Amino acid sequence: MKIEFQHSQWDQTECDVLVLPIFEDDDYQSGLLSQIDDKLDGLLREVRENEEWKGKMGDCAVLYRPPGLPLRRIVLVGAGQREHYDLGTIREVAVAAVNRVKSYHLKRVAFCRRSRVDAALAAQAAVEGVLLATYSGDDFKTEDRAKNFIEEIIFVSPEAHDRQAVEEALHRGSILAEATNYARYLVNQPGNCVNPSKLAEEARTTAEKYGLSLEVMGEPEMEEEGMLAALAVARGSDEPARFIILRHQGGGDEEAPLVLVGKGVTFDSGGYSLKPPAAMEDMKVDKSGACAVLAAMQAVARLGLKKNVIGLIPTVENMVSGRAQRPGDIVRSLSGKTIEVLNTDAEGRLILADALAYAQRYKPAAVVDIATLTGACVVALAHVRAGVFANDESIFAGLEEASRRSGERLWRLPLDRQYRKLLDSDIADIKNVGGRWGGAVTAAKFLEEFVGEMPWAHIDMAGVDSFHESAPLKGATGFGTRILVEFVSHFQAG
Ligand code: BES
Ligand code: ZN
Ligand code: ZN
Repeated sequence: MKIEFQHSQWDQTECDVLVLPIFEDDDYQSGLLSQIDDKLDGLLREVRENEEWKGKMGDCAVLYRPPGLPLRRIVLVGAGQREHYDLGTIREVAVAAVNRVKSYHLKRVAFCRRSRVDAALAAQAAVEGVLLATYSGDDFKTEDRAKNFIEEIIFVSPEAHDRQAVEEALHRGSILAEATNYARYLVNQPGNCVNPSKLAEEARTTAEKYGLSLEVMGEPEMEEEGMLAALAVARGSDEPARFIILRHQGGGDEEAPLVLVGKGVTFDSGGYSLKPPAAMEDMKVDKSGACAVLAAMQAVARLGLKKNVIGLIPTVENMVSGRAQRPGDIVRSLSGKTIEVLNTDAEGRLILADALAYAQRYKPAAVVDIATLTGACVVALAHVRAGVFANDESIFAGLEEASRRSGERLWRLPLDRQYRKLLDSDIADIKNVGGRWGGAVTAAKFLEEFVGEMPWAHIDMAGVDSFHESAPLKGATGFGTRILVEFVSHFQAG
């Protein structure tokens, strides 16, 4: 898709559709809306005042063949209160508008700038929204696939902006959105299509295409290293485990790397602590953290970030068989610590324990792991925010800033030492479940045990891996991809 910026008046832009964000408290008496309304002979006000369209956030109204203009459609999109029009709402408005018009036979879509947010940041958010809305996630349908006729997007502003800055932002937004769509595509693949070896092949393709270095360990190498906690999870499956290491060396040789770790459970049946059918249905998404890390590494490489970044992806399938681990088994993890596995459905933390212990050998400046780790986090935050835990204030601040830029919401949860007691085992160093209460926190406390001295944060994205009911998009969200890239981009050592 062609994406460009034009400094021009709204009625001098050659296009098929003009997208016009409209605020609930918009001013029809003066400025842009009054100009447009005059040209349209009062049509704008008529639509609004007749309450045919209430201008609710994301709601669209289409004006067909606007009189006296070279356009074929004008799309009015509800943009909420003017005061709250930020990067997040710009992105949402772009998603809503493109979702509405992409199936029309219209090629050139122009977006009118209405925000007062920095033009480059706004352009990045808008292009992200546009591209997220063009990926439909119906790759497995043979018929009735959502069509997209849009070929060109033009961002129009009547003010002169720093053209180079805006164009760079459009480029950056495209890379971030394409990476997010790549994560969405991978997460949407069911367990019979993507298993650990498939994920490793996917990583190889991405690494070769974008110039990342790659190492993939199979089970013999993992065993040699001592990753017995991760291997214990993989035992029940016919699909062998993989440990994927991706590397982007954009900084100096001396510079401590940033390490990103993603949970790659390609399907989570629960193991012998079997999930009930309804809870198991969607467990192909249990590789979302891994896909976010792989996609983020793709974007880091494409953007040529001047940082050293390592992506670690432990990947397994959690199944049942005569070889599977049993509740009550004790395993020795890579760190040397022994774990009493009381619940085989708490498998994510076992593979992450070994990956975090492995990360220590890089002496990283920061480690961020991301995982669909606990149902408890969904109970706490529903499908709106992911939980974040951090043992380091500057990493937390960096993630908060990244989240503000990307529009993917986070909420901090605690790591008080009092929670650690819940994981005390009578016979091993730690048990893998902490009982009924505070499940997201005890999972994070479990991970902390394997972090050592590294500055670390953990993102529990179990509630936000997929879109729900009222969302304009379907399937996987690709959550985390953009947070990780923004975090890496703006990370300052020291
Ligand atoms: N993959 C699940 C967590 C999950 C739940 C992801 C809902 C996405 C949506 C994880 O492996 C799991 O099963 N966790 C258990 C932990 C419990 C046994 C301590 C859970 O949350 O029930
Ligand atoms: Zn599980
Ligand atoms: Zn899981």
